[in-house]
Formats: sequence, structure tokens, C-alpha cells
Amino acid sequence: MYKLLVNGGKRLAGVVEISGAKNAALPIMTAAILSKGVSTIYNIPDLKDIRTMSEMLRILGAGVSIEGNSMTINTEDLSSKEAPYELVKTMRASVLTLGPLVARFGYAKVSLPGGCAIGARPINLHLMGLEKMGADISLSQGYVIATAKRLSGATICFDLITVTGTENMMMAAVYAKGKTVLENAAREPEVVDLAEALNKMGAKISGAGTTVIEIEGVDELRPLNHSIIPDRIETGTFIAMAAITGGDVLIKGCRQDHLTSVVEKFRESGVTITEEAGGLRVVGPKRGMIRPTDITTTPYPGFPTDMQAQFIVLMTVAGGVSLVKETIFENRFMHVAELCRMGANIEIEENIAMVRGVERLFGAPVMATDLRASASLVVAALAAEGQSVIDRIYHLDRGYEKMEDKISKLGGDIRRIKE
Ligand code: EPU
Repeated sequence: MYKLLVNGGKRLAGVVEISGAKNAALPIMTAAILSKGVSTIYNIPDLKDIRTMSEMLRILGAGVSIEGNSMTINTEDLSSKEAPYELVKTMRASVLTLGPLVARFGYAKVSLPGGCAIGARPINLHLMGLEKMGADISLSQGYVIATAKRLSGATICFDLITVTGTENMMMAAVYAKGKTVLENAAREPEVVDLAEALNKMGAKISGAGTTVIEIEGVDELRPLNHSIIPDRIETGTFIAMAAITGGDVLIKGCRQDHLTSVVEKFRESGVTITEEAGGLRVVGPKRGMIRPTDITTTPYPGFPTDMQAQFIVLMTVAGGVSLVKETIFENRFMHVAELCRMGANIEIEENIAMVRGVERLFGAPVMATDLRASASLVVAALAAEGQSVIDRIYHLDRGYEKMEDKISKLGGDIRRIKE
């Protein structure tokens, strides 16, 4: 079991390069199922979740190979249409196989993911959408079985905004007869990246990035050839690290236009962020100069739930009280108890965390509970006085490529140890 050992208090400075976005890469990998042949995807991040999705595609019969950050997926002979529980339980995003499998083969058997550390996370809206397109849905032994000779275009209005739900329906609709309209669709950049990848394959999708997406069904798609957008959450996490250590970091290869609400909030808290050639330069305020700032997580273009934990850490050392409201997931304050063990003063009432700024955090042994909570503990440990040991970092490895190498290059004292 690996842990991270961090000696806090070092100012981060230098240049960091952002990797491809996990949450764009995962659906785009499943989009390869829609065609017959060899798809190529570039800027794939080297992550545990990507390896799990590769395994998933291999179980379906695809040939997957990775060289550096490029991946090829050969879907010439897909032999299985079943996403087994053993894999789905380790990664919920496996449910993204549902739409493409039903679209191409008229049949999919996908394990229901069940709850996870951050909330119940049902997939009822994915199933509602497929039913509206004429699929027959049944549940058996924890599996969803979806069948349809050919899906038909339909108008699907989501009760609430769902990212993977929108992506699954977009992929299901590409071969449907006629036009599908997705209303109250997710506008996340990852949804737009998937739509662009599908359009390159020959799909007819318009409106991605707005609340209404239209998909005109086609008869055939060619294999895909696409480069994944940079990870906006990794970018935001490095902004938090530079900010809290009073650092000076140039974040290269990121997309500023995907980070407007995040950058706005960091600026409000006193962090200087400027656009420079090739990236964002982040200069953290001097110790004691961080301003308390309230945030509310909302779907894109609002402040992302995936940045809430990292932002809270900055607020723990702000000069006053900040209110952080989480509206997306019901159990996404797991990091708070760990941060309090490092000296933070945070009270939670329902979905609001009241963060009272303290002068400094202190190193401690802490435990990661999910991906973004783990990232927040790294942010905290970098700023804390003394040593921290972060346990259960397999969560971190699911979504951050070479995080400790990138931090070390910026001057952070961080090391992976085996215990
Ligand atoms: N929801 C339902 N029914 C559904 C679908 C969603 O009630 O059928 C609810 C969820 O329980 C949640 C809300 O709707 O309360 C929004 O969930 P959404 O479906 O948008 O989340 P997701 O698609 O499962 C993706 C990301 C998450 C990210 C969320 C929100 C991927 C693979 N995952 O999850 O990323 O937090 O959108 O932006 O794209 C992460 O990377 O750490 C991560 C958790």
C-alpha cells in the first residue's frame, strides 16, 4: 500500500504541464464502440481509471494498446455486450458503455454501479432516456438489460443536469432513427469534446455546450481520431497549490476558457492569475492575505463540485469566514474531518460548510476517501507546517497523472512511500 509523505511549507514555483482530461477521455474511449475499425485517441492521461476503461473495452472484445499518451482501440471483433459488476463497481464511468452498446448492437447488459463515497448517484435518467428512445429496459440480478432493434429519435428532458447521462444519451442517439433532442443537457467541456469526437466520426450533433443538444441519426460512423482536451480540474488543483503556498507557477497546456468561474473565485480570494503565452500564471498571496470567499457548486459553467474540496483548503487559511455550499452530491464533505485534524476550523450544516480561517495548518497523518478529497489533502499538506502522511492514495492515482512528480518539479517536498 502506497502513501504520500509531504513536508509542508515549501513555496511552489516553476512550470507545470497539464494532462488530458480524465472525464473527457473516458466517454470518448467508449465512443470507439460505435464504429468498426481502429480508433486513435491522443493526449490520453496515464491514470488508473483509463487502465480500468481499457480493461472494460478488452472484456467487450476490443484490442486496446497505449503508447505514451496515444491509444488505439480496435473494435473490429466486439464479442461481448456485457459490462460486468467486477469492473463497474471499481469505476462508475463504465456505465458509459451502455449508450454505445445499445446503439450499435441493440443490446447491452451493464451492471448497475451502486452508491459511492460521494453520494447515491443513481442512473435513472440514463435509463429514462433510453426508454424514451424505445429501448426495452429490465433489471436482473443487479444488471440493466437494454434491448432495441433500432432506437428512435425522441425528445428527452432531464429533470436535473447529468454529465454522463447527457453523454450516454448523445452516444445512444447517433444511430437512432430520426432526430433526438436533449433538453436541460449538461454543458461541461467534456460533453462538448465528446460531441466533437463523435462529429469527426460522422455523427450529426449540434448544440453541445448549450442546454439543448440535437442529434440527427446516421447509418454509419467511421473510427475516431481525436485529441483529448486538457484537464480543467487538474488545472484548478494546481491553481490551489500555487495559491496556498504563496507560489508562482506557470500552468501550461490548459484551457482558460474552461475555467472562468474557478479563476474568478481564486481571484476574489486574492490570488493573482494572468493569461500568459501558453498558459496561466498563478501568484499566491502572502501569508495572511487570503480573503474569505463563498462558493456554491453548480453544473458548468458554475463552480465545479470537483474543485470544492481543493477550494475549501485555501479558505481554511483565509482571514475570515467563508461559506461553501455543495449542491451536486449529498456526501461530498468527507475531506472536512481530515482537514480539521490538520487544524482547520470547519463546521458542516446540511450541505453548507462554514470555514473559519485559521493562521496555519499543521501536518498530520490523514486518509483519502475519494479522488478530489485526496487532492485536497495534498493541497493542505503542501501548505501545512510539518509532515503529513496521506493514506489510501489509490484514489489520487485514479485521476491525477504523475501528481507527485509534477509537484516535486515545482519544489514541493513530496514522496511516495510503500508501507
Ligand atoms: N443523478 C441522478 N440520476 C441520474 C444521473 C445523475 O439523480 O440518472 C444525480 C447525481 O446523483 C448527482 C447529480 O445528478 O447528484 C449530478 O450527477 P452527474 O450525473 O452529472 O455526475 P456523473 O456524470 O456521474 C460526472 C463526473 C464526476 C463529476 C460529476 C459532476 C465523469 C466520469 N464523472 O459524474 O467526476 O463530479 O459529473 O460534475 O465525468 C471526478 O472526476 O472526481 C468525478 C466524480
